[in-house]
Amino acid sequence: MNKFLLLLVISSLYFPVTAQDKNLSQLTQSLCEKYKSFFPIGAAVSPRILKSADSMLIISQYNSLVPENHMKPMWIQPKENEFKFENADYIVAFAKRHQMKMRGHTLVWHNQTPQWFFKEGDQTGSKEVLKERMKKHIQTVMSRYKDDVYAWDVVNEAISDQTGEYLRTSSPWYKILGEDYLEMAFRYAREAAPNAKLFYNDYNTCFPEKRGNIIKLIKSLQAKGIKIDGIGMQGHWKIGSPTKEQIETTIDQFAALGLTVQITELDVSVYQSDQDKQVEMTPELEQQQADYYQMCFEVFRAKKDKISGVTFWGAADNTTWLNNFPVFNRKNYPLLFDTKLQPKKAFFQVVNFNPQTAPAL
Ligand code: GLA
Repeated sequence: MNKFLLLLVISSLYFPVTAQDKNLSQLTQSLCEKYKSFFPIGAAVSPRILKSADSMLIISQYNSLVPENHMKPMWIQPKENEFKFENADYIVAFAKRHQMKMRGHTLVWHNQTPQWFFKEGDQTGSKEVLKERMKKHIQTVMSRYKDDVYAWDVVNEAISDQTGEYLRTSSPWYKILGEDYLEMAFRYAREAAPNAKLFYNDYNTCFPEKRGNIIKLIKSLQAKGIKIDGIGMQGHWKIGSPTKEQIETTIDQFAALGLTVQITELDVSVYQSDQDKQVEMTPELEQQQADYYQMCFEVFRAKKDKISGVTFWGAADNTTWLNNFPVFNRKNYPLLFDTKLQPKKAFFQVVNFNPQTAPAL
């Protein structure tokens, strides 16, 4: 860390963040302000990030937060009946302090969920026990945050990536409870926090087969009388993919189910494949990324009646999960602010529009 950043970190511990924030907002335009009449703009965060110099950027640019990790079952209930809320509470309190909206992520997922959920002793657990555990987890977490978290990703990534397969059959939730686990999760969630907006969240939603399977899932739940409020399109995209048409069609088809749509985990990788070698952020690459981001936000604005939120998966390029995934130690630059927290070309192309003019598409 250079001296300047270190000073910012130290000062952010000693001075009210709101005072520092004023300085930053004078330096740049505010993303969330610009989008105020469209939809909230969120960022995925951790307590560590909120205690760092990034907090100033976050307060001035985003008006919604989601914990990148700290509401996942692995963090919240690492052992049966041992709930650990400290980190999630910290993020929720920060959001409240700064009048930001708060999304919850996530309750039922095959990943980052401790194995004890699925075991009884050394054996695979029974249906009854897993059902009770799911219910208790959902009730405990959602009721704690019922006044603070307005929307939850109730189920994450239940659809298969295998051609020809509908649900992710390798998920321990599916293996033990069968297809019914989706219905259970949404029923328990609705009981626990009747006012929360309930989302199904997934990636690669713009790929026709996966999109079709998500629609099939939502319809089957609706046919059973389950009310789902929205679909989260994760938005881990790369320059050029998905295409404008794919994004438009997906938003339209999801909205046609009577649901709201949110882009829940937006970042645009500068790499096309896992094989790509480390690159520096050249002006050409920055321009390509900016043009892609511009196109995405033109679509989001044009479809603002169908979209109730856009959340970035991170705040700036200094800290992004894509620095290590899918290639360990390969630096990526997927967000609107660079590693020094400065706005990139993409930022300016996303905020450079006239909010009074009706979006034309
Ligand atoms: C998925 C999950 C997120 C997160 C990302 C990677 O998209 O929904 O919670 O784990 O992967 O950071």
